[in-house]
Amino acid sequence: MRRLRPWALVLGGLLCAAAAAAGPPPRSYPHSAVLDGAAAYRLRWGRRGSALAFRLEVRTRGYVGFGLSASGGMASADIVVGGVERGQPYLQDYFTDENRVLKKDPQQDYHLEYAMENSTHTILAFSRELHTCDTNDKSITESTVRVIWAYHHKDMGEAGQNYHGSNRGTKSLRLLNPEKEEVLSASLPYFDLTNKDVEPLIQKGHENLVHHILLYQCSSNLNDSVLDYGHECYHPNMPDSFLTCETVIFAWAIGGEGFTYPPHVGLSIGTAADPQFVLMEVHYDNPSYTEGLIDNSGLRLIYTPVIRKYDAGVIEAGLWVSLFHNIPPGMPEFVSEGHCTLECLEEALGAERPSGIHVFAVLLHAHLAGRAIRMRHFHNGEEQKLLAYDDEFDFNFQEFQYLKEERTILPVRQS
Ligand SMILES: *[C@@H]1O[C@H](CO)[C@@H](O)[C@H](O)[C@H]1NC(C)=O
Ligand SMILES: *[C@@H]1O[C@H](CO)[C@@H](O)[C@H](O)[C@H]1NC(C)=O
Repeated sequence: MRRLRPWALVLGGLLCAAAAAAGPPPRSYPHSAVLDGAAAYRLRWGRRGSALAFRLEVRTRGYVGFGLSASGGMASADIVVGGVERGQPYLQDYFTDENRVLKKDPQQDYHLEYAMENSTHTILAFSRELHTCDTNDKSITESTVRVIWAYHHKDMGEAGQNYHGSNRGTKSLRLLNPEKEEVLSASLPYFDLTNKDVEPLIQKGHENLVHHILLYQCSSNLNDSVLDYGHECYHPNMPDSFLTCETVIFAWAIGGEGFTYPPHVGLSIGTAADPQFVLMEVHYDNPSYTEGLIDNSGLRLIYTPVIRKYDAGVIEAGLWVSLFHNIPPGMPEFVSEGHCTLECLEEALGAERPSGIHVFAVLLHAHLAGRAIRMRHFHNGEEQKLLAYDDEFDFNFQEFQYLKEERTILPVRQS
């Protein structure tokens, strides 16, 4: 995946809060993502105990392929192919070896629930266990997974293992994200941060060009002269004061959805202690090197005048970006560790938040060299459940992960 250099824009002003209404009834497929740029391939999914149920809605009357792949490519992937041929539904579990040769899996772990076709689309509903104990399948965990997709205008029997041409691709997703209960009310006020002047606002036609967007909080004493102009990120012409914009307060990635705070939490805006300036960093992906593109995509921040019980904030832990942080050449793997010590927590939270803070979401953040991230949590010297992890981190897919339940971090040792 090639990227264009990211651009940044600092905007003066306010930040967001989001609101909630009563939760909808449980849906059978609470998650949904469009996998392709032309909106021809939609994936819906939902948890069923130890299994995951999928529903594919694809604009073809031929076969539909879906898979999980370590690299995002066709090699060593766990694949399922199905469709409706002469009125007969079919679904077959396959896998590919490292040479991308497609083979029928002797152990069939994808179970067809139903398949149907209308005049334009094929709909396939099937399920599989998260862990199938089949070495040809990929286990589904909380880590990022590269979903691969393909479709063909002919069915499998007719097309054989016909090459699916350009109707294929990959997308990073987290399949085990908890279900979100809140729905946004359409009547809430909002403001937009766009490149020209928190829900991603992608310019029509640029769905695949905009790859991810990060919103950072900046120092509160920026000089007016640096505001409101975009700059190429980290270019020598970028104002030095942009380097004060370090704390990620919002992240959206292709494949990600909008971010909503829990109903009892909001990010405070408008008071002197709140963020005064933010920097929006937009990362582009232009694999065909199309020239002359201008993009006005950005973020829509929805707010409410109804003050929420708790203020949201961001606590950062890990390793600071530094010139002294080197990976020796030729290392097959390299672990970097950063510690947020009890002393540090005590200094930061002891006076203001002696009862601790409640963590409701985690953003795992790294740059291009990052492959896996773990956020560990210790209490009185004993390791607790991981706060968050991603063993297959994808730089292009950074979004807040909601925790299934809030976790408390205490600034003091408890006896
Ligand atoms: C066919 O099914 C798709 C997916 O559910 C739907 O979007 C589309 O409107 C349907 N087309 C017709 C003609 O019913
Ligand atoms: C703001 O920037 C302008 C232009 O670079 C400079 O003349 C001015 O002194 C700066 N103001 C402050 C308060 O730093």
